[in-house]
Amino acid sequence: VSGETAPRIGFVGFGEAAQAFARGFREAGIAMATYCSGANNQPPYTQSFRDRAQSLGVSPVETLAELCSRSDLIFSAVTVSSALPVAASLAPELNGRHLLVDINASAPAVKRKTAEMVLARGSGYVDAAVMGAVSIYGHRVLIYASGPDAGRLHALATPHGMQIQVVGEQPGMAAAIKMLRSVVTKGMAELLAEAMMAAEKAGIADAAFRGICDPMDATTFSKFAVMCLTTDAIHAGRRAAEMEEVMETLREMGVAPLMAEATYRRLNWTAASGIREHLKGQVPSDWRAVLAYYRNLDTSE
Ligand SMILES: NC(=O)c1ccc[n+]([C@@H]2O[C@H](COP(=O)([O-])OP(=O)(O)OC[C@H]3O[C@@H](n4cnc5c(N)ncnc54)[C@H](OP(=O)(O)O)[C@@H]3O)[C@@H](O)[C@H]2O)c1
Repeated sequence: VSGETAPRIGFVGFGEAAQAFARGFREAGIAMATYCSGANNQPPYTQSFRDRAQSLGVSPVETLAELCSRSDLIFSAVTVSSALPVAASLAPELNGRHLLVDINASAPAVKRKTAEMVLARGSGYVDAAVMGAVSIYGHRVLIYASGPDAGRLHALATPHGMQIQVVGEQPGMAAAIKMLRSVVTKGMAELLAEAMMAAEKAGIADAAFRGICDPMDATTFSKFAVMCLTTDAIHAGRRAAEMEEVMETLREMGVAPLMAEATYRRLNWTAASGIREHLKGQVPSDWRAVLAYYRNLDTSE
């Protein structure tokens, strides 16, 4: 893939993500092709599929071989369950001219396996984790990229409006960051749901909503995160005792304390880990001091 001329683009799969990217690349006048073979669209394509592709400046092709012969930068945008088999079919068609950008929301292990197959062909590979909604941001959506060719993707795609942030040398790292972010964002969503469910039953929903949001609005999430990570290490034991009361209160309000109980269990785990003693009871200024202690601890149970 040359950085001097615009790369020809290929999409494996032509759903929401591929079409959003195509819309963006179309503005840049880049040549594009797609091979799609899902439950709804597969060769020979319907006229409406062809029309949709053509309206976005994309030529539908009937085989992966043809897609590879017509493109340099190939996006795999299929489904999580088909990402690996699709890569296995694609690999024999790839060579040193290609750069495969795997935007499927697959697990890190799947990305590593895919990378192995693709890199063995001499092709480039990028684990690309889409960090937002393509329906909102289109091809400008923030993408975390990892793998040996992530920098190459950054150089190639940035001039065409893509937002590529290189986050690691190894395939799977970008996918892992996306999953770990889900631990926090989906976890927070359920914590809020649990708390607000109880607030509604207690007739204090509006005030509780402000009580939760106002202190957060007054700070930044980064400052809040540092405070959480550093004080948790020292105060987990006391907080675990407080959570017992919280759980009882939720039960009295008629809400099963599913998330609160998980918090209670994590606090007890932290208190028993020895981190407080390790830090001599002092809240560290750097959250990395806490993680350094956990690094060599068995955290699997
Ligand atoms: N949309 C987003 O905001 C977003 C964000 C982050 C990550 N992603 C990831 O990007 C990938 C695509 O997402 P999407 O939203 O575009 O999904 P989608 O709308 O369901 O599109 C998937 C496309 O892949 C095609 N396909 C399925 N199996 C195939 C196969 N074996 N060979 C070739 N094509 C195949 C489908 O064909 P049919 O048309 O026949 O169904 C469809 O065109 C997913 O892995 C998703 O996790 C999407």
